[in-house]
Amino acid sequence: MKLKKKIVLLPGDGIGPEVTRAAASVLQECAREFQHQFETIELPIGGAAIDKTGSPLPNETLDACHKADAVFLGAVGGPKWDALTVGKRPETGLLGLRKGLGLYVNLRPVKVLEPLRGISPLRPERLGDLDIEIVRELAGGMYFGERGNVNENGVERAFDTESYSTPEIERIATFAYTRAEARSRRLCSVDKANVLTSSQLWRRTVTAMSTVYPGVKLEHMYVDNAAMQLTLRPTQFDVILSSNMFGDILSDAAAALVGSIGLIPSASFGTSAPLFEPIHGSAPTLAGKDVANPIGSILSATMMLRDTFGLGLEADWVEQSLVRVLNGGYRTTDISEPGTKTVSASAFLEVLHQEMQRTFEHAEKYGWGV
Ligand code: IPM
Ligand code: MG
Repeated sequence: MKLKKKIVLLPGDGIGPEVTRAAASVLQECAREFQHQFETIELPIGGAAIDKTGSPLPNETLDACHKADAVFLGAVGGPKWDALTVGKRPETGLLGLRKGLGLYVNLRPVKVLEPLRGISPLRPERLGDLDIEIVRELAGGMYFGERGNVNENGVERAFDTESYSTPEIERIATFAYTRAEARSRRLCSVDKANVLTSSQLWRRTVTAMSTVYPGVKLEHMYVDNAAMQLTLRPTQFDVILSSNMFGDILSDAAAALVGSIGLIPSASFGTSAPLFEPIHGSAPTLAGKDVANPIGSILSATMMLRDTFGLGLEADWVEQSLVRVLNGGYRTTDISEPGTKTVSASAFLEVLHQEMQRTFEHAEKYGWGV
């Protein structure tokens, strides 16, 4: 089946443009080989948009995203804009985009790639076949709660508010339960219900829903304990459900377990176009040096192919080719280890394109697509 899709590319700041270009080249090769049409347009967001238009999320950008079949983002932020107040920063552009597209689900799979076992900080028996999914609420919580600065008799106070409503919890929990049902039927909901009222509602709501999903084994964990358990014995988890803030923190921690945050993709779903982005930041110190690992971005593109366009075969093609490149010893700096060939990001991408060609031409030999 030949598809025609409109994809908005939002390269953003720092290494964002480099990794987005890499993923876009993979998508274009996919279109060529399988005769799909991926029409892409590039628009500014974050610091790049502030410099160009004065706003981190220009109307034109958000409007185009609403009309797209999918949105693909690199990263936002950097020292150049660090002095700006919260509402004016590059990050506000990303949060505005998430809110504007009604994206309340953020799915972050953390899975060990076989050839990269050696770069995990965990002992092999602890790493096991780590394969978890973090389901992070993305449109509420402290990121979007009431905030401000007040002056109390000459003393400055600043505040942010964590708040969740029952429907907000139910819609993200529905996604997490469904995900768990399709996997190993284990769901761990993370909160801080021993301290926070919003977490008590979170726990009560998630618990009440368990009758709808009798096949799923629900467990609750306080976030501090979850951080420890994730580090000590991560394979006990399957699907982890969390608030916006806790999910932000736990997903970086989980990424460390597989050796580099540069490896982890994400997909966000909601009421408008879905958004795909690697979970890493703009890494300003790496920008322009041709070292940024494109894997998180490329795997975000394969999530787009598989989960949103229904192109499982194409996604397998890219992912299997990628694993063979890694098996061949090619690495970017962040994932290199003794005995491997550390190459620039552009050389890594070049090798991946060659491998994709080879896989395509010798599909049968590789057991792909048959
Ligand atoms: C992430 C990032 C963002 C977040 C920043 C850049 C606003 O850390 O996607 O995890 O906190 O959500
Ligand atoms: Mg983060």
